[in-house]
Amino acid sequence: IVILDSADEVAAYGAEIFIRCIRQKPAAVLGLATGSTPLALYRRLIDANRDAVVSFAKVSSFNLDEYLGLAGDHPQSYRHFMNTHLFDHIDINPDNTHVPPGDAADPLQACADYDKLITKLGGIDIQLLGIGRNGHIGFNEPSSGLQSRTRVKTLTRATIDDNARFFSTQEFQPHLSITMGIGTILEARKVVLLATGAAKAGAIKAAAEGPLTASCPASALQMHPDALLIVDAAAAAGL
Ligand code: GLP
Repeated sequence: IVILDSADEVAAYGAEIFIRCIRQKPAAVLGLATGSTPLALYRRLIDANRDAVVSFAKVSSFNLDEYLGLAGDHPQSYRHFMNTHLFDHIDINPDNTHVPPGDAADPLQACADYDKLITKLGGIDIQLLGIGRNGHIGFNEPSSGLQSRTRVKTLTRATIDDNARFFSTQEFQPHLSITMGIGTILEARKVVLLATGAAKAGAIKAAAEGPLTASCPASALQMHPDALLIVDAAAAAGL
């Protein structure tokens, strides 16, 4: 666990780890996350790419999750989020970026295919994670199986409410998602979880110091041999 003073330092520290990883392995397979927390890290990756500090030309990526029922061109889809906040601004080949297909005709098959593709490309070298206030990672809500694979998950009321801020009042807000499983996430060679702000303090305490339990999906990271939690002082307040 790395505790830093500010959210900005968390982003800088996390970005450095990703940049180092890609410089060591230019064809790295990245696991990426959405949410507001990784945005500052993505801005740093964009700057580093612009300044020729790092190239994404050979990199592939897999995102953790997507809303089921939203096509990639929907403004609230995670595919759209990733294009807007990262992919459109770096030299990554768009064909090498993968986000679960929210508009899949056969979502269950799409989940199995997603896991297979991760394996085919050699597995994820470094997985970025945020954390939900209830301890979820990706959309693995409390009670998720600790060995779960990529699958369809129902969102909890708490997560729907937390994410309602991104949807206008009249707009359809999905209650289902496709998410990498906890087992899928644990197979990444390295895991980097970022958390900032007081709202995450309870989840961070449960993840780092609580029991290993499906009630706090992020506690599964205790089983990972190379998992790093990078948190600001506010998110570390309960430790
Ligand atoms: C969503 C995403 C998670 C993310 C969480 C926290 O539920 N599926 O991957 O970690 O939001 O988001 P934020 O960083 O905005 O607090």
